Amino acid sequence: MNVMELFSLKNKVALVTGGAGNYGRSITEGLGEAGATVVIASRNLETIEKTAAGFRTKGLDVHGMQADQADTASVLTLEENIQKQFGRLDIFVNNAVSRPMKGYAAPIEQFDESMKVNATGMMFILREMTDLIIRSGGGSVINISSMMGMYAPIYSNYEGIRGMGDIAPDYCFHNAGLIMLSRFMAKTHAGKNIRFNTVSPGGLFNNQPEKFVENYCKKVPLERMANNDDIKGLIVLLASDAGAYINGENILIDGGLNA
Ligand SMILES: NC(=O)c1ccc[n+]([C@@H]2O[C@H](COP(=O)([O-])OP(=O)(O)OC[C@H]3O[C@@H](n4cnc5c(N)ncnc54)[C@H](O)[C@@H]3O)[C@@H](O)[C@H]2O)c1
Repeated sequence: MNVMELFSLKNKVALVTGGAGNYGRSITEGLGEAGATVVIASRNLETIEKTAAGFRTKGLDVHGMQADQADTASVLTLEENIQKQFGRLDIFVNNAVSRPMKGYAAPIEQFDESMKVNATGMMFILREMTDLIIRSGGGSVINISSMMGMYAPIYSNYEGIRGMGDIAPDYCFHNAGLIMLSRFMAKTHAGKNIRFNTVSPGGLFNNQPEKFVENYCKKVPLERMANNDDIKGLIVLLASDAGAYINGENILIDGGLNA
């Protein structure tokens, strides 16, 4: 098949959780530009619909739906609505994240709150959307983890910056778990025409304090933080037939920071 056809997502339906967020918007844009119909979901219906409408003005077929990952009933409603409105799901980008824990010594209840969304809730939505993809004939699941699910924090990046550097441990814990869970899913669903891969990004530039950006970029061989385009190609590769033989993999995308 022609290579550009291999990358095409025409006639595919994708779900991106947290699609109004920082990486979520880039992921949605990439999938939409490759031809997919994209459903973006998060808790605030107004925000998600406004984001979706913004994408539609650029000619992308993006739809907003409400879902709270911590609430099983809400996830089941999302699944039903996708089924009802589009009749299928081919691609799930498991991207939403909640960051309720505010540092190493924060009240342990904040760790628990994080797990409700990022571990238990995440497992539930992953299982449900996997079932929907299998019922649709197969497809691709892309789990978004982080370089912080693979490597310990680089504390020197935060030197000299007030209010940064007290890294919350829940984030490293659930992102590391997701990398393994993704491999588990790949083997558990063998023979069902579904692939599971993880993308572990580095820091996205988002107007962080200048000193932090300087500290960070000094360590990156490409001398910059990630930009909004960096994740798009990899997501489309993993979502499309161009990545048809990539399964159970975790791909670090950090500009060489952890090389
Ligand atoms: N931003 C970065 O620099 C960075 C770096 C490495 C990895 N990542 C990973 O990228 C992914 C997205 O991160 P981001 O920085 O873009 O996050 P973000 O905070 O910008 O967006 C997160 C999204 O998740 C949604 N969300 C939170 N709780 C939810 C819930 N209970 N139900 C449904 N939706 C919920 C939010 O509404 C938001 O849309 C995460 O998996 C994160 O680990 C981000």
